[in-house]
Amino acid sequence: MKTNSEIKVRLFTGSIDRLRISNGAIKVLEINGIPCHEETFVPKEPWERLNKFDCQRLISLKKHNYNDISLIKLPRNLIKVFEDLKLKNCINNNDIHYIQDSSKWQETIKKTVKFLSRFNLNNTEIITHKLYFGQPNLKNNTFNSHEGVFIGMHLDSWEGEHIFSRNRSRNRICINLGNEPRFLLFYNISIVSMAKMIDFQINDEKNDINSIYKKFASKFPDFPIYRLEISPYEAYIASTEFIIHDGSNWSSTFPDINLTFRGQFYFKKCMSILNLVIIK
Ligand SMILES: [Fe+2]
Repeated sequence: MKTNSEIKVRLFTGSIDRLRISNGAIKVLEINGIPCHEETFVPKEPWERLNKFDCQRLISLKKHNYNDISLIKLPRNLIKVFEDLKLKNCINNNDIHYIQDSSKWQETIKKTVKFLSRFNLNNTEIITHKLYFGQPNLKNNTFNSHEGVFIGMHLDSWEGEHIFSRNRSRNRICINLGNEPRFLLFYNISIVSMAKMIDFQINDEKNDINSIYKKFASKFPDFPIYRLEISPYEAYIASTEFIIHDGSNWSSTFPDINLTFRGQFYFKKCMSILNLVIIK
C-alpha cells in the first residue's frame, strides 16, 4: 500500500509517538468477551511504531483538509473548567448524571461550544452529545446497546447522509475527560475509496453502507489500520461518518469518560497547531 494517504493526521509538537500501525483487520466472533454479529472486524495485533515512510505519508505538516484527523489540546482555561466538575472521580453512571444535570455543566458546555465555534465552518449548528461513560480496559469499545453487541470497526451514521455527501457531513470532536489515554482506531482512506476498491455499486441506494466495509475487510485484510492515542484533556477531530473507525481504552484501569460534539470543525491552513494550544 505505497500510496499517498487520503486521510492525513495532524499532530501537535511532541506527539508523533502517539501513532501506531496494525497490519490490517481480522474477523472476530466476540469482543470483550461478548459474542458479536457475523462479519465483525477489529484491528489485528500487534500495534507497531510507524516507520519513517509511514510517518511521512500519514502526517500532515501543511494544509489541513476537512476530512483529516487532528489531535488537539484543550486550552488551559477550559481544562480548569472541566477539572472543577471533578468528572475524573465518577465511578458510575449515577455520578455522571448528577454532573450532567447541574447548572455548572450547562455553563461548561456553553464555554466549550464557544471555544469550538471558532473552528466551526459556516456557523453549522454544533450538536452536543451526552457524556460517554464506559468500562475500563475495552479493546474495541463501540457498543450497540439496542442489540447488546460491540460492533468493531464501523462507520457512524448520526447524519445519515448518502455516501457521496459524507465528506461534507458534520465531523466530530471527542474530548478525553477520563484519567487515562484512550485511542482512536482508523483507516486512512474513506468509505468511498473502499467502495471503489471492491467495485461496489455505490449508485444503488438499497445497499447497506456498512456492508461496504465488511466486503472491503474481507477482500483486503492486510490493509493497515492506525491508532492515535489521546491523553486526558486532549481531543481528536475526525470525520467518523466518512472514515471507518472505532474507539479503544485498552489497558486502562479507570472508566472511559469522553464528550463528543458534532460540527464542521476545520483549521485554517495558516493556523499552527501550537496556536490552538495557547488560544484563550
Ligand atoms: Fe463511531
